[in-house]
Amino acid sequence: MAEDSQNWVLMVTAQTPTNIAVIKYWGKRDETLILPVNDSISVTLDPNHLCTTTTVAVSPAFNQDRMWLNGKEISLSGGRFQSCLREIRARACDVEDTKKGVKITKEDWSKLHVHIASYNNFPTAAGLASSAAGFACLVYALGKLMNVKEDNSQLSAIARQGSGSACRSLFGGFVKWIMGKEENGSDSLAVQLADEKHWDDLVIVIAVVSSRQKETSSTSGMRETVETSLLLQHRAKEVVPKRILQMEEAIRNRDFASFSQLTCTDSNQFHAVCLDTSPPIFYMNDTSHRIISIVEKWNRSEEAPQVAYTFDAGPNAVLIARNRKAATILIQKLLYYFPPNSDDLDSYIIGDKSIAKDAGI
Ligand code: DP6
Repeated sequence: MAEDSQNWVLMVTAQTPTNIAVIKYWGKRDETLILPVNDSISVTLDPNHLCTTTTVAVSPAFNQDRMWLNGKEISLSGGRFQSCLREIRARACDVEDTKKGVKITKEDWSKLHVHIASYNNFPTAAGLASSAAGFACLVYALGKLMNVKEDNSQLSAIARQGSGSACRSLFGGFVKWIMGKEENGSDSLAVQLADEKHWDDLVIVIAVVSSRQKETSSTSGMRETVETSLLLQHRAKEVVPKRILQMEEAIRNRDFASFSQLTCTDSNQFHAVCLDTSPPIFYMNDTSHRIISIVEKWNRSEEAPQVAYTFDAGPNAVLIARNRKAATILIQKLLYYFPPNSDDLDSYIIGDKSIAKDAGI
């Protein structure tokens, strides 16, 4: 470290988009390491609309690790933050900033504290995968600050310990989270199936049915499902393994008919598993159900499906249109059924260049 001064600050800012699963992760086999009961596949969304921006700073003047989310200080005492910080610190390397006359050695990192400021440009904890973008961005930014040499897949195994779905946000395009077999979680990580250019006809429209925080968090919801749902066991063992292979093929061949059928069916099964939980968990509401009916009716009236729908742990619809023309008709339909002054929808988020690149600075 610089001998003469305690005044320096080194900073890194990163931006990471959120991702939406088209084959869902729901259920852990290990709660601490965040190891899932099945593989999952996601699409990473356009960062202009849904992303987290995180600045991490280190200075000898900081006397504890601190974090602010959307301008408010939050506690870092939770196990998930601590796991990410610990794993990144363990991989930290020497850093030199000649302009500032700062040299930090590998050993120094265990004594230095970080300040973290994170912003979401979308509602937090409303079922729009805010924790996914948040932990991916945190791990990525800390990794850059501490000169960690691991690649994005290895970083994904660290982000996973912050929030399972976060591991998929280290990559752009289409991403698979491999559940892995090892007890220590070393092989439970994300890999990119195809980059953002592979299928760039797709347009993603999000109908924000409610921007309020959800009542049952994903973490507690999936814990209750694992404890009580027999349907989950069937899903994880019998259904998802086959569906993952079919989805990989649909993505490879840009086969929208299969892609949309698999996406919608998997979303519906995930919500069926939530209903099979005791007590049952209801993430979708009447507006969500109406959106499903509108899309199903439309898809059936055409020669080929036009739009896929998927819902995470909340009522908001993520709608994936096969191309720009279908997206335009979709928006017209949404405006017709849910006019801007109606109480049914809070807002729309339209991803014009819908599929994002890898996490970056
Ligand atoms: C429905 O990743 O938020 O969005 O691992 O407990 O943090 P934790 O859960 P989280 O769950 C996401 C669930 C989901 C499906 C998905 O993204 O695959």
